[in-house]
Amino acid sequence: MNLLIMGPPGAGKGTQAETLAQELQITNISTGDMFREAIRQGTEMGKKAKEYMEMGELVPDSVVVGITRERLSQPDCARGFLLDGFPRTVVQAEALEDMLETMGIVLDGVINIAVPREKLLERLTGRRICRNCGASYHLRYNKPKVENKCDACGGELYQRSDDNEVVVNNRLDIYESKTEPLIDYYASRSLLKNINGDQDIEKVLADILASLGK
Ligand code: AP5
Ligand code: MG
Ligand code: ZN
Repeated sequence: MNLLIMGPPGAGKGTQAETLAQELQITNISTGDMFREAIRQGTEMGKKAKEYMEMGELVPDSVVVGITRERLSQPDCARGFLLDGFPRTVVQAEALEDMLETMGIVLDGVINIAVPREKLLERLTGRRICRNCGASYHLRYNKPKVENKCDACGGELYQRSDDNEVVVNNRLDIYESKTEPLIDYYASRSLLKNINGDQDIEKVLADILASLGK
C-alpha cells in the first residue's frame, strides 16, 4: 500500500504513522524527521532547512521535492510507503503526482487527521521527542513509562525547538493557508479518508485501519 498521512501540526501524524507503518509493513517516511536528521548531522541541506523550520516556515518546494524523490527511489519503498508531512503545498502535490507516474506507482489513499485548532497548541507545547528514535510522547496524553526516557529504546526525551507558542501559531497559520487546500485536491481524486483525530490514540488508529478496509 502507498499512503499519505496529512493534518495540521500536532494532529498526530507521527504518532499514528509509526504504528500504522508497522501494522501494514510499509516504509514510514517523514520529511520533518529527514530535515531534523540533516540538521543533526550538520549537512548543507540541514543548514538551509534549519532557518525555515525554526521560524515555522515551509522549506522551499524545490528542496523538499528533491529529497522526497530521492527517498522514494530507494529499495525499501518498493514494499509500500507512508509519507508523513509531504506534500504540503499544491506545487508539491503536483510534483508527487508526476514522480509517482514516472515510477509507475499508484497512490492508494490519503489519510487526513482533523483536530480543532484550539487543541493543537497544548498538544505541541506538551510534546517530547526521543533523541534517538524520534518517537513522540506527551507530558499529559502519552506519558513515557519512565520520566524523560523513551519506552521503545530508552533514549533521552527532548522538546523540539519549533514547539513554542509563537512558532506553533505560525505553523498553524501556514498549514491553513498552504496545506489545507490539499484536502480538496485529494477529495476530488477520491483518495481522501477523513479521520477524527480528537479521540484517544488507539481509537484514531482503529478508525484509520477501518477506513483502509483493515
Ligand atoms: P513536521 O515535523 O512534519 O511537523 P508538523 O507538520 O508541524 O507536524 P508535527 O510533527 O508537529 O505533528 P504530528 O501531526 O506529527 O503530531 P504528533 O504525532 O507528534 O515538520 C516540521 C517542519 O519541517 C515544518 O514546519 C517545515 O519547516 C519543515 N517541513 C517538513 N515537511 C515539509 C514539506 N513537505 N514542505 C516544506 N517544509 C516541510 O503528536 C503531537 C503531540 O500530541 C504529541 O505529544 C503526541 O503524543 C500527542 N498526541 C498524538 N495523538 C494524540 C491524541 N489522539 N490525543 C492526545 N494527544 C495526542
Ligand atoms: Mg510529526
Ligand atoms: Zn526512542
